[in-house]
Amino acid sequence: RRVAVLISGRGSNMAALLAAAEDPAYPAEIALVLSNRAEAPGLAHAAARGVPTAVVESRAFKGDRAGFEAAMQAEIARHGAEIIALAGFMRVLTEGFVARWDGRMINIHPSLLPAFPGLDTHARALAAGVRLHGCTVHLVTAGVDEGPILAQAAVPVLPGDTEASLAARVLAEEHRLYPAALAWLAAGRVRLEGGRAVVDGAAG
Ligand code: GRF
Repeated sequence: RRVAVLISGRGSNMAALLAAAEDPAYPAEIALVLSNRAEAPGLAHAAARGVPTAVVESRAFKGDRAGFEAAMQAEIARHGAEIIALAGFMRVLTEGFVARWDGRMINIHPSLLPAFPGLDTHARALAAGVRLHGCTVHLVTAGVDEGPILAQAAVPVLPGDTEASLAARVLAEEHRLYPAALAWLAAGRVRLEGGRAVVDGAAG
């Protein structure tokens, strides 16, 4: 299955997906890396790997989300993508766009949802004093960070952790979890049952 990866910045999760997809046995091919910012460092990494890239500048569509999304949709369609993987993509998508990609768009979020949706998850986890933190891959629905959960990985919060040390521990798990979850979706192993995601053949 052909996948478009949407980024806004660093692109380390995108890089993890690209690396996984280099294995011929991997069920997804990265057909496009699309950024809403021309200066996103992830673009150069994708281009260096020979993966097609495109930029649709969200700044150029101030206040015109429909126009922004139509331009993105055109790029995604041009590259024949059937699945979207959001990877540090920092724009909230409209209900219309989300509905069009219903069941075919996933996101990685740096917390154990439903705890800490939104931004600054690591600082908030430290402030809350939780002992476990982590990351979640979920299907994208209209409510931000609220879609059915596909996969999670937990890490300990250690004494003396800073936002940076905790973020790095979580990020290492993100880079393992996201390629695995995308593979499940691309291989057609994800079903919805009563609003929850079920992964055929996955333990737990
Ligand atoms: C990651 O922590 C991801 O979970 C969140 O944004 C960050 C993006 O990092 N959605 P990168 O661009 O993948 O390096």
